[in-house]
Amino acid sequence: MDVELLKQIAREYGTPVYVYDLDNVILQFERFKSFFPWPDLKVCYAMKSNYNPHLLRALCKAGAHIDAVSPGDLYMAQACGFDPSRMIYTANNMKDSEMESVMGTGVLMNIGSLSRLEKYARAYPGSRVCLRFNPDVVDGAHEKIKTGGDLTKFGILLEDAVKVEAIIKGHDLKVVGLHEHTGSGLENPDSILKAMENIMSVATRQMFPDLEFLDFGGGFKVPYHPDEADVDYHGIGQRVVEMFSRFCQAYGRALSLVFEPGKFLTAQSGVMLLEVNTIKNNRSRTICGTDSGFPQLIRPMFYDAYHHITNISNPQGTEESYDICGNICETGDLFASQRMISQIRENDILAIEDAGAYCYAMGGNYNLRPMPAEVVIENGSVSLSRRRMTSKQLVDQILSESEGLPA
Ligand SMILES: Cc1ncc(COP(=O)(O)O)c(C=O)c1O
Repeated sequence: MDVELLKQIAREYGTPVYVYDLDNVILQFERFKSFFPWPDLKVCYAMKSNYNPHLLRALCKAGAHIDAVSPGDLYMAQACGFDPSRMIYTANNMKDSEMESVMGTGVLMNIGSLSRLEKYARAYPGSRVCLRFNPDVVDGAHEKIKTGGDLTKFGILLEDAVKVEAIIKGHDLKVVGLHEHTGSGLENPDSILKAMENIMSVATRQMFPDLEFLDFGGGFKVPYHPDEADVDYHGIGQRVVEMFSRFCQAYGRALSLVFEPGKFLTAQSGVMLLEVNTIKNNRSRTICGTDSGFPQLIRPMFYDAYHHITNISNPQGTEESYDICGNICETGDLFASQRMISQIRENDILAIEDAGAYCYAMGGNYNLRPMPAEVVIENGSVSLSRRRMTSKQLVDQILSESEGLPA
């Protein structure tokens, strides 16, 4: 994003602040679709990556569908214009009450365990459903975001397809889709094809005669580090479409091809701006203290994720090594360690790049510090999307939700 514009946003809206370029989100959405030239392609945006309402509205207008994973996701997507017919609900260890409230909206349920499938079948015999299988492929940018294989909680094992068959036939369920998600930030593009192959091996007409789509999840990585190359998704998309076309011929009907990208659509369209308030020389290290902290952008601390950081107040300065720290009372409160950045002075504004996915959305109010404001750029113009709460507003909200406190 343009440095002068970012500086202006920091001045006008204060820091810390997230900035999302919605025009770029839509460009990424169009790019993503162009990778997979299939007549019935559905792109279900994994809104867990960023549930900003303006961003959701923009993607809704552009024709995206939604991958929702909680009742909150579902209500938010509806509020932003998505009809439940344009969503898939990927349940994750849900209770009966969650199943009932979600089913009340009419959204298609995606079930990932035999136990839940049995309960669903008993409660909704004859209904439509999607099944999440574990693709038995292990990949992802970090252990915590690999979702395939034996060590994760997700999906029905492929070898349990026979048990699935017994449940669906016993309750006359109509399995309209099969789903898998291998992981986030897939390192090996062949994992996408291998996972597809594994799901297709159970997607037979004999076992699942009512299929309307196969959903191969998300996980499309974007380069976070300047040395990382872009993945050739055009080439991969070609292979995906060829494979899917062969599958559809064997199945006897053209199905919809569904993906659920999150990061690919949003990561590179977001930046978090923060202000430096303290420079401290700790013998061999220079500590740079800022006005944000890990609860407001947790990926470096949680996943050891790299986010590029630039000093937009002094982009031409000589590079020096810094520990970029937050304002939270935790030693691990670091955005970067021993990072070379152009010379930083107190009051400089830093930009943490690629902060559009799993940053604000994973945030919290630890240390009772309210989340940053959110600003959007849409059709080239800048506006406030969500204001920053004051500390007093945050505390007043907590007190108002608290029961039985003495007046
Ligand atoms: C079921 C499912 N679909 C899609 C995604 C989106 O993944 P990504 O943001 O890496 O594309 C996730 C994220 O973990 C997921 O769990």
